[in-house]
Amino acid sequence: MVCLGNICRSPLAHGVLQHLADSEGLDWVVDSAGTGGWHVGEPPDDRAVAVAGNHGIDISCQRAQQFNPRHFDEYDHILVMDRENLNRILALAESQQQRSKVRLFLEDSEVPDPYFDSRLFELVYQQIEIRCRELLRILGK
Ligand code: 4NP
Repeated sequence: MVCLGNICRSPLAHGVLQHLADSEGLDWVVDSAGTGGWHVGEPPDDRAVAVAGNHGIDISCQRAQQFNPRHFDEYDHILVMDRENLNRILALAESQQQRSKVRLFLEDSEVPDPYFDSRLFELVYQQIEIRCRELLRILGK
């Protein structure tokens, strides 16, 4: 799961998908990263921790990291929250195989950045949970 800062959207997607996969007994390794490095080592934004907690998911132990090209080989799917960050990730890819792993988390739309608008956190959470449930169905077969 990839966003800009790895403190709002991608930690939520990471936490929700890992929680759902674990609940189904699936042996999935979910991780998240930001294209930017400003928040590396920090826990998720308090508002992201709070909205996840309201839905029974604890993301407080996550720590932000910056996307590293080695992630192309470590993961099967690289799902990105918006087009700007999708383009940044695609620019780092060095082969068609790497590019083929990268797509928008919401397929044809973007998860809005809630960092400067706290009212968006619940909406973002809802979008992420719905999509994670779909991903579980699609990829869990
Ligand atoms: P995220 O949100 O990409 O969903 O983690 C942001 C986090 C930090 C900043 C922007 C967006 N920032 O400008 O520091």
